[in-house]
Amino acid sequence: MDLKIDKGDFIAFYGRSGSGKSTLLNMIGLVDRPTSGEITLEGNKINTLSDDKYAFIRNKYVGFIFQDFKLIEDMTVYENVEVPLLFAKEKLSYMERRTRIAELLKKLGLEGKDTAFPDELSGGQKQRVAIARALVNQPKLLLADEPTGNLDKSSAEDVMKMITQIHKENETTVVIATHDPHIKEYVNRVIYVDEGFLREEE
Ligand SMILES: Nc1ncnc2c1ncn2[C@@H]1O[C@H](COP(=O)(O)OP(=O)(O)OP(=O)(O)O)[C@@H](O)[C@H]1O
Ligand SMILES: [Mg+2]
Repeated sequence: MDLKIDKGDFIAFYGRSGSGKSTLLNMIGLVDRPTSGEITLEGNKINTLSDDKYAFIRNKYVGFIFQDFKLIEDMTVYENVEVPLLFAKEKLSYMERRTRIAELLKKLGLEGKDTAFPDELSGGQKQRVAIARALVNQPKLLLADEPTGNLDKSSAEDVMKMITQIHKENETTVVIATHDPHIKEYVNRVIYVDEGFLREEE
């Protein structure tokens, strides 16, 4: 497959189960590496970089959201969102972290939830915490694997509205792998993944 993603694109991957949507997303997000072929980022070939450089670029450029949220259960909302900041190369001070996290939680409608633990939240709230965590390093690329898969209709709509707002505000590039037919209504490009082939809806 051959795919070019431009800055500011808002893409949904569709395709049957096992067609390779998550695999493709993990390549784009620098989680996995291709066994052949190449990935370039801003013109630079990156898939042959060392693990450290690969992880560094991932931390700086990419935010990830998952179907099952992947929050750390024994950390508070605040601590979950803080994790990527603690791993970032450019360290923020305690006060800078507090300010940034407070702004994000407010934006995502999670004011007052900073000391709550994940098991005290609804599915929609958990996914919004996961979005805050994905955004805290101000990534240029936001990737989401079935972000609405575990949510009821109204929480799914909230989450998609927030992702759309993030896409608009910062020209964040967004790529979503999904089975949810409603996501088509939000994105600019719809791409079907079929056993190694891609077909884009005109
Ligand atoms: N780590 C792995 N090692 C070997 N094969 C794998 C691995 N991960 C996924 N696969 C296989 O690669 C194919 C693509 O899987 P992938 O998870 O990308 O599909 P998907 O389109 O995301 O499916 P779904 O809609 O169910 O999430 C499947 O046949 C899967 O079994
Ligand atoms: Mg998948």
